[in-house]
Amino acid sequence: MAHRIGVIRGDGTGPEVVGEALKVLEAVAPGCERTEFDLGADRYLRTGETLPEDELAALAGCDAILLGAVGDPRVQPGILERDLLLKIRFSLDQYVNLRPVVRYPGVPTLIPSHSDDDVDMVVVRENSEGLYAGAGGFQRKGTPYEVAVQESINTRHGVERIVRYAFELAATPARRHKLTLVHKTNVLTFAGDLYQRVVDELAAEFPEVETDYVHVDAACIYFLDAPSRFDVIVTDNMFGDIITDLGAMIQGGMGIAAGGNINPSGVSMFEPIGGTAPRETGRGTINPLAAIGALEMLLRQLGDADAAARVDRGIRHATSRMKGMRAGEMGFTTTEVGDLVVEGAA
Ligand code: IPM
Ligand code: MN
Repeated sequence: MAHRIGVIRGDGTGPEVVGEALKVLEAVAPGCERTEFDLGADRYLRTGETLPEDELAALAGCDAILLGAVGDPRVQPGILERDLLLKIRFSLDQYVNLRPVVRYPGVPTLIPSHSDDDVDMVVVRENSEGLYAGAGGFQRKGTPYEVAVQESINTRHGVERIVRYAFELAATPARRHKLTLVHKTNVLTFAGDLYQRVVDELAAEFPEVETDYVHVDAACIYFLDAPSRFDVIVTDNMFGDIITDLGAMIQGGMGIAAGGNINPSGVSMFEPIGGTAPRETGRGTINPLAAIGALEMLLRQLGDADAAARVDRGIRHATSRMKGMRAGEMGFTTTEVGDLVVEGAA
């Protein structure tokens, strides 16, 4: 299948890891049409533009988007995050942030008590509202009486669609039919109550799925202490952001953590979740497997199960041969890891 892929290489190590992902793409699905978008810190510093409307429209015309990473110490925090990354997520209504947490073969665990097969979960993070909605503001800014309000927006529509997505995922044969709501219902008695009620209501439609509830702070304990209790997790935007970084660490490090910003009936965007890694930039030390895992998710979302399965085999081939997952500790360079994946995907 030939897909039309929008490519945002972005900043820091983004271009290096996307380069490897595209090498793998060419091996498993040759002839895809790629449109490159020059977006990120360099573009912003050069022209002052983050995401012009015509480029957003062009992104919306792709089948899917592959993103490296955005962010740069030279740019004030918040600009690229809000006006580029979150703008794409929100404008294209990519309301699901899907983050699998899996231990690939041979990946050394960072948590000594974990065995090889007790980490296998998917976090379904709400990606369009919550604290990320940007609701609030300052009063009397810069005075001793300053007030900063940042509200969490949770709509019935938004909660229902993310919880439904999570139930549908939990019910698939590939999963273990368990859905855990992670929230903080003992303190966030409005937003948490809405999430819990929606889970309880939809549970009736999915009798084959067992439901569970865990407070977000306790979830952090279980990630370290008993990760096998989780299959599919559904949670809000902010909690999902935080627990998926912990999830990345229990799968073996940020170097292999991939995620998708999904609009099930629109254009989705896939990315390594680890960021720009400024210290590793340009050294050939960064692990490209997260970006390659993002490519696998992209292919799966586009319905290209064969190509996705080949990428998966390639990743497993690579992890079984690498020394470690962290930058500089792989026993291979960035491009050599890409080559290993291509070899295993053949
Ligand atoms: C992530 C990142 C983003 C988020 C930032 C860069 C806006 O941390 O994708 O997890 O908070 O969603
Ligand atoms: Mn994050």
